[in-house]
Amino acid sequence: MPTAHPPPFSTILSSTPQPSPTDLTPIYQGAEAHLYRTTFLSSTTPAALKIRPSKPYRHPILDRRLTRARILQEARCLQKLVKEGVSVPALLGVDWEPNADNGSSWLVMEWVEGGPVRVQLERWERYLKGVERERGLAMGEGIEKSEEEKVRGLMRRIGGAVGGLHRAGVIHGDLTTSNLMLRPKSAEAAVDEEGEGSPSMEGDIVMIDFGLAMQSAQDEDRAVDLYVLERAFGSSHPRTERFFEEVLVGYKESYKGSVSALKRLEDVRMRGRKRSMIG
Ligand SMILES: Nc1ncnc2c1ncn2[C@@H]1O[C@H](COP(=O)(O)OP(=O)(O)OP(=O)(O)O)[C@@H](O)[C@H]1O
Ligand SMILES: [Mg+2]
Repeated sequence: MPTAHPPPFSTILSSTPQPSPTDLTPIYQGAEAHLYRTTFLSSTTPAALKIRPSKPYRHPILDRRLTRARILQEARCLQKLVKEGVSVPALLGVDWEPNADNGSSWLVMEWVEGGPVRVQLERWERYLKGVERERGLAMGEGIEKSEEEKVRGLMRRIGGAVGGLHRAGVIHGDLTTSNLMLRPKSAEAAVDEEGEGSPSMEGDIVMIDFGLAMQSAQDEDRAVDLYVLERAFGSSHPRTERFFEEVLVGYKESYKGSVSALKRLEDVRMRGRKRSMIG
C-alpha cells in the first residue's frame, strides 16, 4: 500500500495565503515598521500589512533573528488577545524572509476602520482652540458640558479596553493615543470629517501595536502602562488631561484586579514627580 507523503514544506509555505502584492497602499512609514493597506484572500477584505524591515547596519544573522523574534512576539500576542475577546485586530498571517540578505518580517491583520484616537483628539483640540480664540477664553475654558461628556465617554471606553487587556495578563508597553484606534460603529459615521466642527468620538476602541507588549502579573507593570497613557494624554492633548480620571473609571469597571494596580499607580506618579523635580 503506498504511503501518503505530505507535500514538501516549501510547497505548503508558498501556497499559504499571502497579502496581495499588487494591492498595497502605504499608510505609515516609521523607523521600525511600515504599514500598508492591502487585501487578504478576497479583494473585498481589507487587511493591514505590517512589515519590520531589515536593518542594513546590523549583522544579517542577528538582524533576521531580531526582526523575526519581534514580529512573532507581536503575532502571538494578537492571537492570544483575540482568543480572550480583547479588542485588538485579528491576526491573519505572519512570515519572515528566510534569506539572510533580507531579514524583513511581516504580519497581516484585520483592517481597523476609522483612525487613531490621536487624530480625533487633535481635531477636538483645534476646534476648542478656535472657540477659545473667538470668545477670548483661556485654555480649556471653552469646553461646554456636551463636549466634556463626549470626551469623558471616549476616555471611559479607553479605560475599558485597557482593563480588558490587563485582565488577559498582557501589558501593552507603549500606550499612546496613536496606538488606540477609534472604529466607528456604522459605515456612515466612518466618513472622514475634515471640517472645523467638533469631531465625533463615537465608536469602539481597538488597541494596536503590540511590538513592545509582554505578559505580566505585576501591579507595577500595569501601573506603569497606565502612567505612560496618562503622560501621553497630558503631553499630546493638554485639554483632555483633567478628564483622565475617567479612563481609570472605565478601567475599574472592566478589570477586577484594578484596585491594587490603581494603588500602585499612585506610587508610580509620585516617582515620576520626584524625577521631574530632580530634572
Ligand atoms: N490593523 C490596522 N488597521 C488600520 N490601521 C492600522 C492597523 N495597524 C496599524 N495601523 C496604522 O498604522 C500606524 C502604525 O502602526 P503601528 O502603531 O503598529 O506601528 P509602529 O508604531 O511603527 O510600531 P512599533 O512601535 O511596533 O515599531 C497606526 O498608528 C495606524 O494608523
Ligand atoms: Mg504605533
